[in-house]
Amino acid sequence: MLNVSEIRKDFPMLNNKKMSNYPLIYLDNAATTFKPDCVIDTVVNYYKNYSCNIHRGDYELSYQISDEYDKTRKVVANFINSEDKEVVFTSGASESLNLIAYGYGMNNLTKGDVILTCEAEHASNILPWFKVAEKTGATIEYIPLQNDGVLSIENFKKAMHSNVKVVTLAHISNVLGYVNPIKEITKIAHEYNAIVICDGAQSVPHVKVDVKDLDIDFLAFSGHKMCAATGVGIMYGKYDLLNAMEPFMLGGGSNARFDMCGNIQLKNAPFKFESGTPAIEAVLSIGAAVKYLEKIGMDNIEEYELELKKYAISKIEKLENIICYNSLAETGIITFNVKDVFAQDAACYLNSKGIAVRAGNHCAKILMNTLNTSETIRASFYFYNTYEEVDFFVETLKEVTVENCINILF
Ligand code: ALA
Repeated sequence: MLNVSEIRKDFPMLNNKKMSNYPLIYLDNAATTFKPDCVIDTVVNYYKNYSCNIHRGDYELSYQISDEYDKTRKVVANFINSEDKEVVFTSGASESLNLIAYGYGMNNLTKGDVILTCEAEHASNILPWFKVAEKTGATIEYIPLQNDGVLSIENFKKAMHSNVKVVTLAHISNVLGYVNPIKEITKIAHEYNAIVICDGAQSVPHVKVDVKDLDIDFLAFSGHKMCAATGVGIMYGKYDLLNAMEPFMLGGGSNARFDMCGNIQLKNAPFKFESGTPAIEAVLSIGAAVKYLEKIGMDNIEEYELELKKYAISKIEKLENIICYNSLAETGIITFNVKDVFAQDAACYLNSKGIAVRAGNHCAKILMNTLNTSETIRASFYFYNTYEEVDFFVETLKEVTVENCINILF
């Protein structure tokens, strides 16, 4: 069981913060999460007491902070059950997904090959593959979703065939919150010798993700969606695949030597992918965030968010003015519309009562065709949200009408 009132004390943003003169109720955790003191202190400590580069300075401060940086790789590796050398630091899930597409896809796919994905994917897991398809001659195919947006294993099996070389899917949809059956998908994909890329941006912060158990080939996720600073993400890849990849960025730190004739000897993975000075404080912060999440317990986080979501749905289902698109999703994301009210107007009304949600297409533009709407409102929970916040949110939803929105907006 989580002691949420104690946990909330760790977060400065949850300490009597107001928005529109109301106590802030932050329900946009799928976009980014608040940071606990231990993460903020880690960032500040770097700037106050180190502020120097890593892996380049022959002096004590640099050795110390390089050591902390290197230990963070181990902390992250343990968190996802990988080897240290399989963890590449990037700027976020988007860069990780682009690195996989450009570094692996561009160099290993050819005409006739198929990239299999689905319509619910975030832009960061589709647009790079459009580029790969354009350059290599590979084609993109979409696994049909059920009418409710669920990706079923049956539909995956029907869509899978021997020309598919890459299957790239979110573990948890950032719009609908459905958990895709990645373990079963990976087993089948491997029987066809295809690799599986998993966008873990919405799963790693909320559920235990074990790359060995899932047997996925690549995993991408961001620090800022799991209590760490912005500007850091992870690309996990099986080591033989990292070796089969080219970095798409070259520069200092990633090469062992180069000469005037253009010969470059790259370092081994993960270092060959990490050119230039990284966001050192952000990388250190992901170490602090992982330790913080582990102390709370990923199983506790998953269980609490699901219970909170079910509680919210049980109340929302009673509201006649709400269309909910994902009542059955087993994660803390609720996607809905208010009848006859434009999603962004409804979000503005909620804002006027201190409630932060996201409205729009959530970077998953193709999915909106499946849902038969151009926009939705998304409320997304984290382990620090409370039942009282849900009660106020649901009460406020009852007030969202065209007239009330007009009063707020004009
Ligand atoms: N990808 C983030 C979201 O879904 C920003 O909101």
